[in-house]
Amino acid sequence: MRFSLISAVGVLLPLQCSARWLGIPTVPFEVSNATGSFCLKNLKAIVVDTKYQNAVNTEGETLIPPTLRSFASTFSEDLASTLSLKVPVVIGGAAEKNTIFLTIGNSSAYLDAAGRPTSEGYSIDVTSQGIVLTGASPLGAWWATRTILQQGVLDDGMQLSLGSASDAPGWGIRGTFLDAGRHYYPTEFLIEMCSYLSFFKQNTFHVHLSDSPSLNPNLTMEEKLDFYSAFRPNSPDPAVAGLNHRPNESYYQEDFELLQQKCASRGVTIIPEIEAPGHALVINQWKPELALSTDFTLLNISYPETIPTMETIWSTFIPWFHSKTVHLGADEYTAAVSEYNDYVNTMHEYIGTKFNKNVRIWGTFPPNDYANETNVNTNVTVQHWEFFEANPYWDFIKNGYSVLNSDDQFYVVGKWSGSYPQKLNVTRIFHGSPDGGPTAPYIFDRTNATNNPPKDSPYVLGQLPALWNDFGPNSTCVIEAYWALRYGLPGLGDKQWGGDLFMDEYYDILEPLIAAIPGQNLDRKIPSKSSTILSYDFSSSHGNTILDKSGNGYNGKIIGDCSVKDSILTLKPGCSVSTPLTSKGRNYTLSFSVNPTTSTPSTLFSGSASTLRTGNGTPSQVLFITGGSPYVLNYTLPLQTWTDVKIVSINNATYFVISPSGSNRTETVNEFTATIGDYSNSFVWGNPMSIEAPIASIGGDTFEGMIKDVVLVDGADEKYAGYVAPLVIGVAPYT
Ligand SMILES: *[C@@H]1O[C@H](CO)[C@@H](O)[C@H](O)[C@H]1NC(C)=O
Ligand SMILES: *[C@@H]1O[C@H](CO)[C@@H](O)[C@H](O)[C@H]1NC(C)=O
Ligand SMILES: *[C@@H]1O[C@H](CO)[C@@H](O)[C@H](O)[C@H]1NC(C)=O
Ligand SMILES: *[C@@H]1O[C@H](CO)[C@@H](O)[C@H](O)[C@H]1NC(C)=O
Ligand SMILES: *[C@@H]1O[C@H](CO)[C@@H](O)[C@H](O)[C@H]1NC(C)=O
Ligand SMILES: *[C@@H]1O[C@H](CO)[C@@H](O)[C@H](O)[C@H]1NC(C)=O
Ligand SMILES: *[C@@H]1O[C@H](CO)[C@@H](O)[C@H](O)[C@H]1NC(C)=O
Ligand SMILES: *[C@@H]1O[C@H](CO)[C@@H](O)[C@H](O)[C@H]1NC(C)=O
Ligand SMILES: *[C@@H]1O[C@H](CO)[C@@H](O)[C@H](O)[C@H]1NC(C)=O
Ligand SMILES: *[C@@H]1O[C@H](CO)[C@@H](O)[C@H](O)[C@H]1NC(C)=O
Ligand SMILES: *[C@@H]1O[C@H](CO)[C@@H](O)[C@H](O)[C@H]1NC(C)=O
Ligand SMILES: *[C@@H]1O[C@H](CO)[C@@H](O)[C@H](O)[C@H]1NC(C)=O
Repeated sequence: MRFSLISAVGVLLPLQCSARWLGIPTVPFEVSNATGSFCLKNLKAIVVDTKYQNAVNTEGETLIPPTLRSFASTFSEDLASTLSLKVPVVIGGAAEKNTIFLTIGNSSAYLDAAGRPTSEGYSIDVTSQGIVLTGASPLGAWWATRTILQQGVLDDGMQLSLGSASDAPGWGIRGTFLDAGRHYYPTEFLIEMCSYLSFFKQNTFHVHLSDSPSLNPNLTMEEKLDFYSAFRPNSPDPAVAGLNHRPNESYYQEDFELLQQKCASRGVTIIPEIEAPGHALVINQWKPELALSTDFTLLNISYPETIPTMETIWSTFIPWFHSKTVHLGADEYTAAVSEYNDYVNTMHEYIGTKFNKNVRIWGTFPPNDYANETNVNTNVTVQHWEFFEANPYWDFIKNGYSVLNSDDQFYVVGKWSGSYPQKLNVTRIFHGSPDGGPTAPYIFDRTNATNNPPKDSPYVLGQLPALWNDFGPNSTCVIEAYWALRYGLPGLGDKQWGGDLFMDEYYDILEPLIAAIPGQNLDRKIPSKSSTILSYDFSSSHGNTILDKSGNGYNGKIIGDCSVKDSILTLKPGCSVSTPLTSKGRNYTLSFSVNPTTSTPSTLFSGSASTLRTGNGTPSQVLFITGGSPYVLNYTLPLQTWTDVKIVSINNATYFVISPSGSNRTETVNEFTATIGDYSNSFVWGNPMSIEAPIASIGGDTFEGMIKDVVLVDGADEKYAGYVAPLVIGVAPYT
């Protein structure tokens, strides 16, 4: 029964008053006169209103909206996984005792910040008999189910106070942006991120699908053609043959379909972005004749083949996309404004008439007053990011453009940046408006209120923070994108919705809520009876089975011709021990003793996210491979001798701690780090890496030698927190 009662004078009032349910976002809640509560453990069924079971929300961004019945099934699965409640879905005409009745109500009754009806609104009525969830649409009803789950998590006894809520989001676009152009993220990871967003009633995941890190203009043409870039959608259509040159880091149509369906099933729409005519190195590498002679990352719009090429690209991929809006990019084009405006209008016209979709662009050039030039059509929506490009209020909103707020006050750049932080700034979320109050989608400028439209401006679409990977694929690994957003995105979700959570309340409820989010395991937790998750002492083997002494029963299985004797596992090429586990997220300690007998580069441990190796070619240094990139230590395991190793993952760092055998047990701490930089920022050494523990298999390719005492523990000794391993400046990156 976690609700708070607030009054104008700040004292607790007796029952029958306005109050709110503490959650992310907060929910306005009116406690009823009847005292008591309803316990979720009494639930017998979710009853889906017969009349509306097949209803869908057509007002949202998605073109594949789930039915009310389908949302109810997902909710039923969530009650099981999050609250361990078995509550089946039935179809029925009315609420029954001890059920949650899911129905659709008056679609005009829930208003957004501009006073317009929103299909995402909902009501909740809790009586001693049961719960009624009424959505303005099935999507509204879905958000109501998130409220029930959150309240169930936050009350120890799963008791909901009797009363009613009427709730609606102030803004229609809520969620986040992720740069998957400069860094690849597996489809499964993106799906888990949708589950994360959805729990906090965020409905949009904007995914940037093509880009490259900054290109040094002084490179030779050969080097420019070879520079890292990516175009992630991958189609066998001959019209785009060669455009995607990273087959293992692509989204094929079935991947993109799965992503969109899974996200839609939780109320989240994927907004795909293909960038042009700027940030278009990947397109120019494919067709160099389209490039501007002065900048190989920009398209020459006036070249006759340029617009037809972009039309070919869009016509190939638009049939994949199930959103009403697609994103053209159109950011940071530094050549002619009038050509740029014509380009955007031509693409808007093409995509609108041929595919009936809306388009969005990054705010780049303010509209001009020249009679001799056209401006971007006001039906193109604008995603503002920086005042030095254009003023979202005075340039765009005042000229009739609808604007999505991605102001760079909430930009995050993976791992390192000269200008932006590496994770969301929580203080700014709760105190980021000019008056010191919380941020909100209409707060573009956090210091100068003159640049912010009124709260009820109908031209403010919503807000998305952006996570960029300016320094390309090997400055971060996949899971680090989650950690950059993990602590801030839910709080921003409260503000995107229009909730009124305070920062101290946020920190009280954030961890219990994160631990309960269905449909994901981004923390990469492993269920365990104690802090020891897995322990193989190899003291005995039963046939091919290696016994786990942790008490969790995570027994291993010998595959191939390895032997176990005297508490030692002897590995040979082609044999391995597989475990029932995959990966473990921060913090952890993976310890083992190892005695390699050959220096052949080989795998020690592998998992779903990372591989620990000795050597990756001819050199024999220890390294982690994660996200396709190697992170190499200046350390080689000695041959024919035992070394005790602890891999320690704590906060944002991962260490390789060794104690040699013999009498001198002095620990040496090595750190896995990323070396990043581009031509305008000289190389930055020693950036910490947060790498998941590889725990699916031991050995497996060419490793020869002995291993013993493999133990995976949840947590790490605090003495390593913040430890910075000595840096040798000037070491060339591993090649
Ligand atoms: C609570 O009781 C008061 C006084 O009897 C009544 O005016 C009010 O409408 C009731 N409120 C609710 C929510 O039932
Ligand atoms: C729906 O709500 C609107 C706005 O509150 C109200 O004007 C209208 O009468 C309601 N319609 C019904 C059928 O209740
Ligand atoms: C490109 O080369 C010119 C001439 O050598 C030099 O002045 C400039 O700094 C270089 N630019 C970059 C980005 O390296
Ligand atoms: C239109 O007029 C403006 C202002 O005189 C000028 O800067 C611009 O180059 C002109 N554009 C074209 C396409 O001629
Ligand atoms: C914007 O779209 C609407 C609806 O399709 C249309 O009526 C209107 O003319 C368009 N406005 C412009 C400036 O093209
Ligand atoms: C890593 O964590 C340390 C504090 O332990 C912090 O100072 C540093 O900025 C963090 N680095 C990144 C890239 O997040
Ligand atoms: C976070 O935001 C607040 C408020 O804008 C600011 O004062 C503070 O410097 C920011 N912190 C960091 C680490 O950037
Ligand atoms: C605040 O913004 C207004 C409108 O853009 C501008 O005219 C004014 O100079 C700004 N004030 C400050 C202190 O920057
Ligand atoms: C123990 O080993 C460490 C690191 O290898 C070395 O720095 C230290 O001098 C050694 N101590 C003794 C007593 O040999
Ligand atoms: C990792 O350990 C540090 C230091 O004990 C702690 O502050 C932090 O919350 C831990 N991180 C996780 C994800 O448990
Ligand atoms: C690697 O470590 C050794 C000491 O073990 C040191 O002498 C050498 O300079 C280091 N090399 C690099 C490239 O950092
Ligand atoms: C990181 O990737 C870039 C681009 O592919 C490459 O130039 C650079 O050498 C890589 N750095 C390391 C340390 O592997």
